[in-house]
Amino acid sequence: MKTTFDRFNHTEGESNTSDARREWAGRTTGPKSAPLLERDAKAFLHQSLSSPCVSTIAKAEGIWIEDLDGRRYMDFHGNSVHHIGYGHPKLVASIKAQLDELPFAPRRFTNEPAVALAEKLAAIAPGDLNKVLFTTGGSDANEVALKIARAATGRFKTISFWDAFHGAGFGAASVGGEATFRSHIAGPLLPGTEHVAPYDCLHAYNQTDLVACGQACANMVAYVLEREGDVSAVIAEPMRAVPSVPPPGFWKQIREACNRHGALLIMDEIPTGLGKTGKMFAFEHDDIIPDIVTLGKSLGGGILPIAACIAREHLDVCGDFAIGHYTHEKNPVTARAALTTLEIIEEEGLVERAAELGTYAMARLESFAHNCPIVSDIRGRGLMFGVEITSDKLGKAAPDLAEIIYYKCLDMGLSFKISQGNVLTLSPPLTISRHDLDAALSIVEVAINQAA
Ligand SMILES: Cc1ncc(COP(=O)(O)O)c(C=O)c1O
Repeated sequence: MKTTFDRFNHTEGESNTSDARREWAGRTTGPKSAPLLERDAKAFLHQSLSSPCVSTIAKAEGIWIEDLDGRRYMDFHGNSVHHIGYGHPKLVASIKAQLDELPFAPRRFTNEPAVALAEKLAAIAPGDLNKVLFTTGGSDANEVALKIARAATGRFKTISFWDAFHGAGFGAASVGGEATFRSHIAGPLLPGTEHVAPYDCLHAYNQTDLVACGQACANMVAYVLEREGDVSAVIAEPMRAVPSVPPPGFWKQIREACNRHGALLIMDEIPTGLGKTGKMFAFEHDDIIPDIVTLGKSLGGGILPIAACIAREHLDVCGDFAIGHYTHEKNPVTARAALTTLEIIEEEGLVERAAELGTYAMARLESFAHNCPIVSDIRGRGLMFGVEITSDKLGKAAPDLAEIIYYKCLDMGLSFKISQGNVLTLSPPLTISRHDLDAALSIVEVAINQAA
């Protein structure tokens, strides 16, 4: 059945109903994958970013995924869960051991791995970000954060950014800023969720003076905080995973404006946290400490689902109510997975590695882009970077070209996602070798050259 939104402009991920998708799938789907894809499309509710799926997965190991017919891809998307690579042997062993020792804990009873994880997160988070609650997914962690902000301030309004993503739940979608998640079939959403334009100076406003533009964007947030006078929190991603890097000084000004107007600052670090950007938390690049941080995705080591809301000590104000109350709030197996993941990140120096490899990758891509007529921008931090595809150097977005490049890369064994219609969004595991990183960048460069 056709929907009335056939011409809907998606900003997150490549389309799973485009002609290019059909052509690629028709040409490449193997005999073992085809029947499973058909069963998937029949069994699952269809949505724009998953079913019908692009292919199947039979194996996920390190940086690689492999389909049922043996086609292998380096996975530069991995839903941002795969910081330590898929199936890290130390993580697999610790989850197995935990299953034998204590497989579940109803949340009225505490247990060692859950407490140890809460303590560990408090230890790695800066300042007095010391009080923790676990959820199963990131969207729920953000909703917990919003509830704490309401309780602590006695206010309910929020400010967030257009184009932001905070999850698929109604609260998270209300503060999110992407039509795919909040418009048409989604409403009505939470009241009081005000949005301001994003800080993407170059693309949203064609401004190259980032300091001045960042100041103007921050002034806009301060203006709304002042005019409303009763905003509970500003919630934002410290760096958008699409990727979009904040202008210098922006977050410091937002932090100060929040302090002035009695609003909390919530940083959604669900894809960016735990080292992806070359710092343990992306907000550390901007030298601020938020009041609440949410983590998710890679916290479960690419195996199990767990997310966390970490709040400053004085925000422990909801003791008489239930703000999370999720069934797996103190699951010892997911907690063990997260604890071991943090250990691996520290032992293998993955935060520093992301910084080093990211600097290298972006320098290589920048030098490639210099002579390439259809790349107008390379941006990112650490191992979260993007290549913007435009019809010429002046920067007219070229989503059709981006899609052609995407399928060429899949043909050559590299998987990633397209964001904002025309940005090749590259986010490899932090464990990737320099050799594999180079191989992947060569694939991207070849595909772009062929499409140019
Ligand atoms: C910035 C951000 N916040 C929240 C979420 C939601 O996390 P989950 O899918 O675990 O609910 C995501 C997921 O992509 C995200 O990127």
